Amino acid sequence: MVVSPSAGVDNTARQYLANLPADPNDANAPSVNQNLLPLTAKVNDRDTLEIGGCDVATLVAQFGSPLFILDETSLRTACRQYYQTFQQHYEGPFQILYASKAWSCLAIATIVASEGLGMDVVSAGELHTAVQAGMVPEKIYLHGNNKSQLELEYAIEVGCTIVVDNWWELRTLQELARDRENVPVMLRFTPGIECHTHEYIRTGHIDSKFGFDPDSLDGVLQALQEAPQLRCVGFHAHIGSQIFELQPHQDLTKILVQWYQKAQQAGLPVSEINVGGGLGICHTEAEHPPKIQQWVQVVCEGIQNACREANIDLPKLLCEPGRSLIGTTCVTAYTVGSSKEVPGIRKYIAVDGGMSDNARPITYGSEYRAAIANRMSVPANETVTIAGKHCESGDILIADARLPASEPGDVLVVMGTGAYNYSMASNYNRIPRPAAVLVNNGEANTILQRETYQDLLRQDRLPQRLIAPSQ
Ligand code: LLP
Repeated sequence: MVVSPSAGVDNTARQYLANLPADPNDANAPSVNQNLLPLTAKVNDRDTLEIGGCDVATLVAQFGSPLFILDETSLRTACRQYYQTFQQHYEGPFQILYASKAWSCLAIATIVASEGLGMDVVSAGELHTAVQAGMVPEKIYLHGNNKSQLELEYAIEVGCTIVVDNWWELRTLQELARDRENVPVMLRFTPGIECHTHEYIRTGHIDSKFGFDPDSLDGVLQALQEAPQLRCVGFHAHIGSQIFELQPHQDLTKILVQWYQKAQQAGLPVSEINVGGGLGICHTEAEHPPKIQQWVQVVCEGIQNACREANIDLPKLLCEPGRSLIGTTCVTAYTVGSSKEVPGIRKYIAVDGGMSDNARPITYGSEYRAAIANRMSVPANETVTIAGKHCESGDILIADARLPASEPGDVLVVMGTGAYNYSMASNYNRIPRPAAVLVNNGEANTILQRETYQDLLRQDRLPQRLIAPSQ
């Protein structure tokens, strides 16, 4: 993380501020994935956290809590950091795709599209969101290890590229596209690359449910030669998520170029390579992911070197980051409620959300940092465990958090909640999903409305016989 000069001695939440210029066009701006708080975060005269020029406590008073607060400047800056580094380091064409599984909604899709990004979608629902946001089909790539026939038909209709994952899908597509020409497909293979991250989010190793096994490369290429209705544009691989090493991505570029060259030799019209996503972010000050710029440079140089050695033209290079684009651009604000002291063991303080708006701690054991938004300069002298409100002992957002003394009604923000929080939210315990606001230059706009109790009943149907018992 980018630390302020006082870090190490600063025992307050101020230590988490990026403390740096927030101009999205400033090439020297900090890499967005290395900060805990959004770039525009600052502390105002009332000692309250401000994001995008909006006072977080006031936002909670206005929009309620829990509340996702998304900083437009940080998101646009992250997009530009990817874009500008590609421009600087890649000599061929390129396309950055936003992995919308990290957080898919119309406003986010619209922002990334306006920054020139395309979208990786992984279901008809995400595809529909991309289309509704006006994303052009040439910039949409559909993934998935078990796409339904409906999803494939929808993708063909839309005209996006389908990333074929397995034999069954290839056969189904050959059939569905039989009366068409040039349906664009990309091939996903498992590269056999191990990386260090949580086992649930590793995808590059051979024993993965995603992608063709590399041994089937010849067979797949032959099948495509015999399927003129499908136009194979190239190869895709994704090795995992929340990765801090650069080496596995460098290794991946070599493997992708080898497959690509083989497909070229087999006479397929390939022109694209997609290296997936996976760059990690900082969730605590102890984590040090590489900069976006470093990751992009490694990927660009890897592909360029491998192409030079193989003596082939540069492909269009694609990547599809999710977490590193949006993870640190957002915080979740909660209201502090009850507390419980277990003498000699710990103090719990409970907030008005939890595992239904952030499933990552209970799912992956992920760590987060928090601050009391209305007490940013008060030393964090208490160790407390921040509990959610769900009927489940494991619903703990942060164990042993360092915070200043808090009271019911205080606003607690959890940092770095932009990726895989809202997108994995549930209605567990019939709790409505929170609202999300987009903040920029002192303006806050709702981008996702808070669910109502009536929304929770939207899908409920009551069979008549339960209402009118038989005589
Ligand atoms: N491309 C593909 C094919 C993917 O499967 C993923 C993530 C990405 C790109 C984007 O990866 P990123 O840049 O965000 O690391 N729910 C988990 C993460 C699951 C990641 C799934 N695939 C979590 O909360 O950590």
